[in-house]
Amino acid sequence: MNNFEIKTKIRFGEGSLKSLQDIKNKKVLVITDPFMVKSKAIDKILVNLNNSTYDVFSDIAPDPPIETIVTGIEVFKKVNPDVIIALGGGSAIDAAKVINDFSRQILNDNRVEFIAIPTTSGTGSEVTSFSVITDKQKGIKYPLVSNNLIPDVAILDPELVKTVPDFITADTGMDVLTHAIEAYVSSDANDFSDALAEKSIKLVFEYLVNAYKNGNDSKAREKMHNASCLAGISFNQTSLGINHSIAHALGAKFHIPHGRANAILLPYVIEYNADIKGYTNRDYTLASEKYAEISKLLGFNSATVRAGVKNLVNAIKKLQKELNMPASLKECNVNLDETDNIKDEIAFLAINDGCTKSNPKVSTEKDIIEILNKIK
Ligand SMILES: NC(=O)c1ccc[n+]([C@@H]2O[C@H](COP(=O)([O-])OP(=O)(O)OC[C@H]3O[C@@H](n4cnc5c(N)ncnc54)[C@H](O)[C@@H]3O)[C@@H](O)[C@H]2O)c1
Ligand SMILES: [Zn+2]
Repeated sequence: MNNFEIKTKIRFGEGSLKSLQDIKNKKVLVITDPFMVKSKAIDKILVNLNNSTYDVFSDIAPDPPIETIVTGIEVFKKVNPDVIIALGGGSAIDAAKVINDFSRQILNDNRVEFIAIPTTSGTGSEVTSFSVITDKQKGIKYPLVSNNLIPDVAILDPELVKTVPDFITADTGMDVLTHAIEAYVSSDANDFSDALAEKSIKLVFEYLVNAYKNGNDSKAREKMHNASCLAGISFNQTSLGINHSIAHALGAKFHIPHGRANAILLPYVIEYNADIKGYTNRDYTLASEKYAEISKLLGFNSATVRAGVKNLVNAIKKLQKELNMPASLKECNVNLDETDNIKDEIAFLAINDGCTKSNPKVSTEKDIIEILNKIK
């Protein structure tokens, strides 16, 4: 038996922040990053909270470290809020998820409402049971998974994403594409997750370049915000794959932004999973057939599965070029050959990452090293 459910209520579109006005006579704790305070983006939230009192914890840094979570729990205990609002990119939402969950367990308090308001169109964290926390000392990113982490409400107001600089629009947009594609070929994919992933992929190919070139393009921003959330709902069902496993390890070791690491890997992970070397005997893998499906969906020539896979890979490389993104680790100033055993270490971390088990192909450390050699 399969099960599909969405716990999170989703308010979306221009003006959806006004739904915060429904919060009345509550103690609110806003968890966010320093940029949201400095840029006054937070005022767009606070102005709608005039029926309640609020505190702000704004210490969240990208790739949130364990230490910030510990401080956040102390703040939570002091404020004892009725409502948590997570405002920011994946980092702020992920941190707030864990602060909220751990604090509720410590205080044995299940009444707190959790509202996630993404300001990047990338992680889909506003609807997922995932949170990625970093151990900076060990250089390891831990994806935590629990239904207790899923927000009660997500508010997707495109107004908040208009300030995202072009290179972050590119990184986060490619994260969306990677989520949707990994969900689509996941060993746990089903008709429901496929439908969401398909729509997300189409939206990315249609609107990401416009959002990148003109941050004030309201329609492109809104569509990318929706694409991010749709991909989130999809991969929340199916989990991800080794693209994310390797990106987590690279992100923790070299501080490459998450979406950028995913983007560099994506064409090579597709080629690896599709395994079209033996195409002449037409013994295609299910993953290669699904990649070819995506190609068809995007209107590329997919007369054969092999052509479909190749066209998808080429389209992704073309998209990366249009977004002026690096295509190798070298272009991110990372030299894998400089540090002894680093490839083995990354391969070990990737194989043991929680996202690996739903990859369509069973992978070995040797496979991961081969992929690393292609992207270095
Ligand atoms: N929970 C999940 O399901 C999930 C999925 C994928 C990735 N992640 C994790 O999420 C994190 C990445 O999140 P992200 O890509 O959204 O980036 P982020 O939250 O780390 O933010 C990146 C930068 O963008 C800035 N920023 C955010 N919104 C902005 C805005 N509106 N205008 C201008 N600047 C803005 C931030 O201040 C920050 O400097 C990583 O830790 C990654 O591992 C989580
Ligand atoms: Zn991701």
